[in-house]
Parts: sequence; C-alpha cells; structure tokens
Amino acid sequence: MFDSGLKYGLVTRALHWAIAALLIYQLGGVVAGAALGETPLTEAWGSLHKPVGLLLFILGVLRALWGLINLQRRPPLHRGLLGKLAVAGHLALYGLLLFVPGVALIRQYGSGRAFEAFGVTIMQGDHDRIEWMTKLGGDFHGEFGWVLLVAILMHIVMALVHQFVWKDGTLNRMA
Ligand code: HEM
Ligand code: HEM
Repeated sequence: MFDSGLKYGLVTRALHWAIAALLIYQLGGVVAGAALGETPLTEAWGSLHKPVGLLLFILGVLRALWGLINLQRRPPLHRGLLGKLAVAGHLALYGLLLFVPGVALIRQYGSGRAFEAFGVTIMQGDHDRIEWMTKLGGDFHGEFGWVLLVAILMHIVMALVHQFVWKDGTLNRMA
C-alpha cells in the first residue's frame, strides 16, 4: 500500500493513473473543442468539464497529502542536476494540478451561481457576484490549463526516454 524505496505503492499508482486518465479526458475535450468548434461530440464531451474538474481537484489534494505521507519512502530519482530537474518537474505538475481546477472553483463560487456535480449540490449560489474571484479564474484558469497540457506532454516524453533510451525500468516503478 505505501511506497517503498524500490516501487511506488498501490495507492500512489492508483491515484497516478486515475488522474492521468481523467486529465486525458479533460484536456482531450478542451483540445477537441478548440480544433473542431461546437459540434454534438465536443458539446457532449465538454458538458462534464466542471464535474470532472472537481473530481480532479479532490484526487489532486488526496494525492498531494499521500505524497507528503510517503515523502521519505519514495523511490530515489537521479543524482545531481537531472534529479533536481525531475523534482522540479514533478512539483510543477502537482502545483498545476491543484492551481488549475482550484482557481476555476473559486471563479465558480464567485459567480454567485449554483453548482451541482454528479447530482450533489456543491455550491448554493445564493450570494452576489464576487469580482476578484471571477477575475482570478478568468485571468488564469484557461491559460494555465494549457500550460498543464504542455507539462504533461513533456512528462510523457521523459517517461518514454526512460523506458526506451535509458532503459532504466523507471516506468515499472509506476506501472
Ligand atoms: C484539472 C482540471 C481542469 C483542467 C485541466 C481544465 C482545463 C481547461 C482549459 C485548458 C480551458 C481553456 C479552454 C480554452 O482556452 O478554450 C478551460 C476552460 C474552462 N474551464 Fe476548465 N479545467 C479544469 C477544471 C475546471 C473546473 C473544476 C471548472 C469549474 C468548476 C472549470 C471550468 C471551466 C470553464 C467555465 C471554462 C471556460 C472559460 C475559460 O476559458 O476559463 N474547469 N479549462
Ligand atoms: C500517460 C501518461 C503518463 C505516463 C506514461 C507517466 C509515467 C510516469 C512514471 C514512469 C513515473 C515515475 C517516475 C519516477 O519514478 O521517477 C511518473 C511519476 C509521476 N507522474 Fe506520471 N505519467 C503519465 C501521466 C501523468 C499525469 C497526467 C500527471 C499529472 C499530474 C503525472 C504526474 C506525475 C508525478 C507528479 C509523478 C511523480 C511521482 C508522484 O509524486 O506521484 N503523470 N509518471
């Protein structure tokens, strides 16, 4: 269940791949929307953007807490500069995973409109609009969502380099 010096544990792996699958769905929908415009497919895909985003935020918080609990037990990264870059890259992924849906949820609250996800009322929407909250989401949510997409693509490229160029078994630790 916990991480060990050799491998990420079951909880870390389940969270990693569940979040990866949901983010591919989430960003795939955004990319499809940008590429194809409004079609029945992209509208259906986009209709789950807010609830899936909320789910990603909750899983991201759990994952960050689980990462902190396992901080001393995690498999080691490279020594030297490459290891520092890997840590920085992973921290950036965590930061974006919390920031992107986080500012969207703040904007949603600030809009003063009700928000329901998976049949559950998350926000009542019984107050006036709160300008700084809507501005925060408007200024940063979409932009940093695209940054997250680029960061994930770089992360996937590095996973492939580990697997097929350096052949160091890094993928097995998370598989
Ligand atoms: C990790 C989760 C999320 C990711 C990766 C994500 C990603 C994105 C991206 C890249 C865009 C820009 C689309 C464009 O430029 O046309 C966008 C737009 C939008 N997202 Fe999200 N989103 C997430 C979570 C959420 C949540 C939780 C909400 C609301 C509760 C939300 C509400 C919106 C809305 C209303 C827009 C359209 C307005 C705008 O561009 O800011 N998103 N999202
Ligand atoms: C399908 C695509 C993906 C592949 C092939 C992949 C592969 C991997 C591998 C092999 C590791 C282990 C690295 C090591 O042991 O040093 C890892 C760790 C990690 N991955 Fe991914 N990953 C993918 C998607 C994602 C996504 C979408 C995120 C977004 C947040 C992410 C965030 C992380 C983080 C933060 C770590 C560091 C370990 C941790 O704290 O959980 N990955 N990934």
